[in-house]
Amino acid sequence: MNIDFVILAAGQGTRMGGDSPKVLANLAGQPMLQHLINTTNSFKKSKRILVVGYKANEVKKHIKTPKNTDWVKQNKQLGTAHAAKQALSSLRKGSVAVILYGDVPLVSAATLKKLINSANQNNLALLTFNKDNPSGYGRILRKNKNTIDSIVEEKDANSSQREIREVNSGIMAIKSNSLAKLIPMVKNKNVAKEFLLTDIVELANNNKIKVKALLLKDSSEVLGANNLQELHDLERAYQRSLAESLIRSGVKVADSSRLDVRGEIEVGRDSFIDVNSVFEGTNRIGRRVSIAPGCLISNSIIDNDVVIHANSVIEDSMVGRECEIGPFARIRGGTELQRGSELGNFVEANRSKVGKSSKAKHLTYLGDTTLGNKVNVGAGTITCNYDGEKKYKTVAEDGVFIGSNSSLVAPVKLGKGSYTGAGSVITKNVDSGELAVGRGKQVNLKRKKK
Ligand code: UD1
Ligand code: CA
Repeated sequence: MNIDFVILAAGQGTRMGGDSPKVLANLAGQPMLQHLINTTNSFKKSKRILVVGYKANEVKKHIKTPKNTDWVKQNKQLGTAHAAKQALSSLRKGSVAVILYGDVPLVSAATLKKLINSANQNNLALLTFNKDNPSGYGRILRKNKNTIDSIVEEKDANSSQREIREVNSGIMAIKSNSLAKLIPMVKNKNVAKEFLLTDIVELANNNKIKVKALLLKDSSEVLGANNLQELHDLERAYQRSLAESLIRSGVKVADSSRLDVRGEIEVGRDSFIDVNSVFEGTNRIGRRVSIAPGCLISNSIIDNDVVIHANSVIEDSMVGRECEIGPFARIRGGTELQRGSELGNFVEANRSKVGKSSKAKHLTYLGDTTLGNKVNVGAGTITCNYDGEKKYKTVAEDGVFIGSNSSLVAPVKLGKGSYTGAGSVITKNVDSGELAVGRGKQVNLKRKKK
């Protein structure tokens, strides 16, 4: 069965405020519309027809589409039926058409499958749900429990219709030939003077197409985002469900309402995530990892048994097994920590490699640095990697001991097992096993008594 997804995304979204098209509003690190496109891409033999209008080029620029996607333009936003009409010529013969709204982004593939199966039996399959405060949504009118007669939009509803709690999600599936037959019959005789897609329910009934509703129990996947409050509510619903799915997979999450995943995440069993951490981009986190409060982890790989203390930032980096990081550490720029190494309090590492069991536990900057295995970096050590024009490398081979408050002026190399004395400014290479002391000699002067 061919499945043609028609995604309506031409509106401005004036209720959202701002000039950016509503469907580009950020939800969990991606434009709302992107979530929908990713969901449709999980269907075999699927095609997407994206109906755009307001700032169409901006929408195109920010959205990644799979193969088999058509863009069609709705030049004037005359209503959802008019938007769907623009897609008719792109539908494949005999396909099932699924209408999606760009501002209802979290519908699941499982729910869509049910609608598609129903439409394949020649029904107009409509997705509805109950909402305690239904304002803004189209209300579902039923004369008897098992059939739907029509949908009335809020603006056109009388006061008793406004009391109805069952609402239209906007999402529906129908054979494309039936859609092509019904859409041209929609008129714009309503308060908004728009061509409303919701009218096709009554038209289907009049044309002997059965209307079947799928009433969802959990409404969180069909909430729409028309204003900033609804966008916020959608984000929270998404984050909560993501946290709950992590918990189901064996991850301990301290508080499902204080975890934010803005992108893709994989976390191994028995890991623990304390409150207020944010995960950006694509992150892979191993088993038995402990993440303390307030961390930002972005596009990184964290291996098993790692301990990350509070308020640490890890960006574009790789952390090996049994490493320990923070509190207040910043690891970035493709830095790689090998097994059992530690970067502690107020340590920054950029474009660096830290060998097995090496340690920089306090107040250090490692830039463009390669540490071998079992290197000890004393508190306050700074690599001076930048001369104002270029960046240079620092190398400390296996077993090097760097005294506290050393400045390593790059390019510089400390040979295997060498030492630097505390407070040294190291400007020359140090050979293996040597102790380098680069500081003014202490003189103690007698003071004259007054
Ligand atoms: C719509 C439904 C309403 C439903 C609600 C669910 C209609 C008439 N109403 O109302 O029954 O309860 O969604 O969230 O369908 N769009 C276009 N071109 C247009 C108009 C809209 O592409 O000319 C797009 C918008 O960009 C948006 C989607 O269609 O992504 C829905 O439009 P919107 O104005 O948000 O409809 P609602 O008032 O929310
Ligand atoms: Ca809407």
